[in-house]
Amino acid sequence: MVIKNQKNSRKTEASVEPMFVERWSSKAFTEAALSDGQIASLFEAAHWAPSASNRQPWVFVYATDGPDRDRFNALLNENNALWAPKSSMMILVFARIVDAEGKKIRTAQFDTGAAWMSLALQANRMGLNTRAMGGIDLNAAYDVAGVSREIFETICAISVGVPGTDDDIHPRMVRQNFANDRKSVSEIAFKGTYTG
Ligand SMILES: Cc1cc2nc3c(=O)[nH]c(=O)nc-3n(C[C@H](O)[C@H](O)[C@H](O)COP(=O)(O)O)c2cc1C
Repeated sequence: MVIKNQKNSRKTEASVEPMFVERWSSKAFTEAALSDGQIASLFEAAHWAPSASNRQPWVFVYATDGPDRDRFNALLNENNALWAPKSSMMILVFARIVDAEGKKIRTAQFDTGAAWMSLALQANRMGLNTRAMGGIDLNAAYDVAGVSREIFETICAISVGVPGTDDDIHPRMVRQNFANDRKSVSEIAFKGTYTG
């Protein structure tokens, strides 16, 4: 499969559902607000992700505008602050790393990653763009979201919104804002024994 547009020229090695290559993380957003229905659909998709023992260890805390959004934006590092505040919604993602008995949940981050990907693919199908961000103040995120440091781990933030154009982006970022490539599949999948 070959995807062909100005920003996304990804080619696949095998047949795959187009949604996997159509999704990419642009930094360009318009200022259009998301409806309550759109926001509900994103978290609906996320919460159907699979998880070990169906524990569903993910927690999403989000802000769209106003003082909440100002507090969320203040977590961004310098580079992310150049583009992410324009997105319609910012989500803080946490994984519950201990259960009610105080036992470690070994797969918490893995399960939470599955929920993020579900949200990202749903967003793409709705014509929205997402971009995850590790470049935030991971420690301050607990206080901003009101989440316990003892029970949860901050994973990342996510920007969500209506995709913009090069005109919506800081000029310094335009050149790198395109759908990037991947390693060859032979570098990540091995039959029988790892030979990497
Ligand atoms: C956990 C995580 C953290 C990331 N952190 C940042 C970040 O701080 N700033 C940024 O611009 N992009 C960030 N990204 C976006 C990645 O660079 C991007 O997903 C990767 O290059 C693959 O590109 P694609 O999502 O367009 O396919 C992050 C992605 C993930 C999944």
